[in-house]
Amino acid sequence: MMTKLIFLTGAGMSAESGISTFRDSGGLWENNRIEDIATPNAWASNPERVQEFYNSRRKQIMAAQPNEAHLALKKLEKNFSVEVITQNIDDLHERAGSTNVLHLHGNIRFSKSSGPNQECAYYPIDGWELKTSDKCPDGYSLRPHVVWFGEAVPMYQIAAERIKNADILIVIGSSLQVYPAAGLIHNARKECRKFLIDPNGDELGVSKEFEVINASASQGLKTFLNHL
Ligand SMILES: NC(=O)c1ccc[n+]([C@@H]2O[C@H](COP(=O)([O-])OP(=O)(O)OC[C@H]3O[C@@H](n4cnc5c(N)ncnc54)[C@H](O)[C@@H]3O)[C@@H](O)[C@H]2O)c1
Repeated sequence: MMTKLIFLTGAGMSAESGISTFRDSGGLWENNRIEDIATPNAWASNPERVQEFYNSRRKQIMAAQPNEAHLALKKLEKNFSVEVITQNIDDLHERAGSTNVLHLHGNIRFSKSSGPNQECAYYPIDGWELKTSDKCPDGYSLRPHVVWFGEAVPMYQIAAERIKNADILIVIGSSLQVYPAAGLIHNARKECRKFLIDPNGDELGVSKEFEVINASASQGLKTFLNHL
């Protein structure tokens, strides 16, 4: 049986594609306060602003390209069973060719209903723009398919179950400060080898079970490959 590698990726995975992280911009996302653009309250009080923010993120993501690190994960599928669990809402893993990608926080290229039962259906967005006047079949406005702060993470349990089966868990580019996603690492078995790749890895306070590689995603993956 092939060794099962599970990658848990965060915003740092896409940093080398030119997409900024939260942590590196002091808790802001492209100069916006999280409360103003990524919460249910923000949507309720100013849906146009929220829509505009995600439209501009979508435009940026569509113009970005998968980086060396995204491509390296795809390559590993030749010799390993590879699963990617990403906190990112970009689609760069998919565009690099990874075949097994679970999005914990949604995928910005899709929309969903802003009404009740919003977890039922996702609609691909044609182009970069979603308008507040765009409605889904149930008559509610379409909102980006992203999990906002304060919302449940429907894929959490599935991700937790997958991580239990990992032979090697590799966390890349996550500050491990956004919960519940950060808690996923505790589902790995004791025998599972654990790596953290992050230029600030030493500061992130992971347990001693983790082998920390203080490097960018692309450089850190090269070092990681030497451990396989
Ligand atoms: N690309 C995206 O989709 C995107 C971008 C920003 C934020 N987000 C959302 O914000 C949340 C932020 O939490 P998070 O923990 O993922 O990100 P975070 O911003 O809290 O932390 C990013 C981490 O990446 C590291 N990093 C910076 N440059 C790196 C590089 N070149 N290679 C590897 N690591 C690098 C930083 O040291 C930091 O530890 C996520 O849950 C996600 O939904 C997504």
